[in-house]
Amino acid sequence: MKISGTGSVLPKKIVTNDMLAQFLDTSDEWIRTRTGVVSRHVISDERLEDMAIEAARKALDDAGMKAEELDFIICSNVVNEYVTPQLSCIIQGGIGATCPCMDINCACAGFIHALEIAESFYRAERVKNVLIVCAEEPTRMTDWSDRRTCVLFGDGAGAAVLTPGDNIKSIKLSASSATDKLWQYRLLQPTPYIEKEEEDVPLQMKGQDVFKFAVKAASKDISRVLDEAGVGADQVDHYMLHQANIRIINAIQEYLEQPKEKFPTNIEDHGNSSSSCCPILLDECKKKGLLKRGDIIAMSAFGAGFVSGAVLFEW
Ligand SMILES: CC(C)(COP(=O)(O)OP(=O)(O)OC[C@H]1O[C@@H](n2cnc3c(N)ncnc32)[C@H](O)[C@@H]1OP(=O)(O)O)[C@@H](O)C(=O)NCCC(=O)NCCS
Repeated sequence: MKISGTGSVLPKKIVTNDMLAQFLDTSDEWIRTRTGVVSRHVISDERLEDMAIEAARKALDDAGMKAEELDFIICSNVVNEYVTPQLSCIIQGGIGATCPCMDINCACAGFIHALEIAESFYRAERVKNVLIVCAEEPTRMTDWSDRRTCVLFGDGAGAAVLTPGDNIKSIKLSASSATDKLWQYRLLQPTPYIEKEEEDVPLQMKGQDVFKFAVKAASKDISRVLDEAGVGADQVDHYMLHQANIRIINAIQEYLEQPKEKFPTNIEDHGNSSSSCCPILLDECKKKGLLKRGDIIAMSAFGAGFVSGAVLFEW
């Protein structure tokens, strides 16, 4: 398969570090130097499903494709206001598609997981045109009085349209259960039979453990896709990494011994928008004219679970 169209949508409300410092014991200097984030887009009056539908429409327009031509839709999402129906069905109706669809929750690595699922459908010759939409609102998961988590995230939706091709050179996924490092509980409806104690707990994170996992997993995943494709790190034109922390990106860049210019970022203006980071970054790089036909791109993401993955593809 190949990526034939991209689209992205961000909420209009921009929250700067200085705005956060008005109600949190934090500072622009701390957030900027420890994370690389300067501001982020935060959902206010938007609905995530509307953003997801708009991102999908933009990707379809970019690919010059009609929604009726789609054979499959995969939506990556961690939370949204609906428990059911799945977001992919809402997107299907919103864009006027009729194909099957599914949601996946692979946290911040959702785009790479969706690509791997799509690739297996292509290999089985089950599909011609596939839409992937990553739509996330992690700002609704955090406790906004917890300076250790809420400063990191932003919201957004990113989409990609896939068509037949042989542009994917290698994809690798991995998982290693660590459920006490990055997690959130939600309270379900009570029943007359519930006897256990339940809690509603916002996102909890052991930041340094997540940091170490991220650097190790991404370095390993990228090395694996390079090895499998027989491509040297020097031959990669762009490394598009999950935008969780600029220091994580810098550590991976140093491990790979590649110049900074090969690592485009948008964490400065967006923060971490979970699985939406990768398709939004791809869309923005495309719009800025950074990508040339034939460029080799290594993309890597990691997140709660822990899960991670990398993909090597030709643009
Ligand atoms: C969260 C993260 C930025 C914290 O950076 P760190 O350098 O590890 O900082 P620490 O957690 O050691 O905290 C250092 C100090 O800063 C404080 N601090 C934490 N957040 C702060 C904030 N927003 N403003 C000011 N101080 C803050 C801590 O309370 C701590 O204070 P103490 O030394 O008095 O206890 C970093 O660990 C990280 O990015 N981890 C990965 C997170 C991630 O990527 N999550 C999503 C994965 S998909």
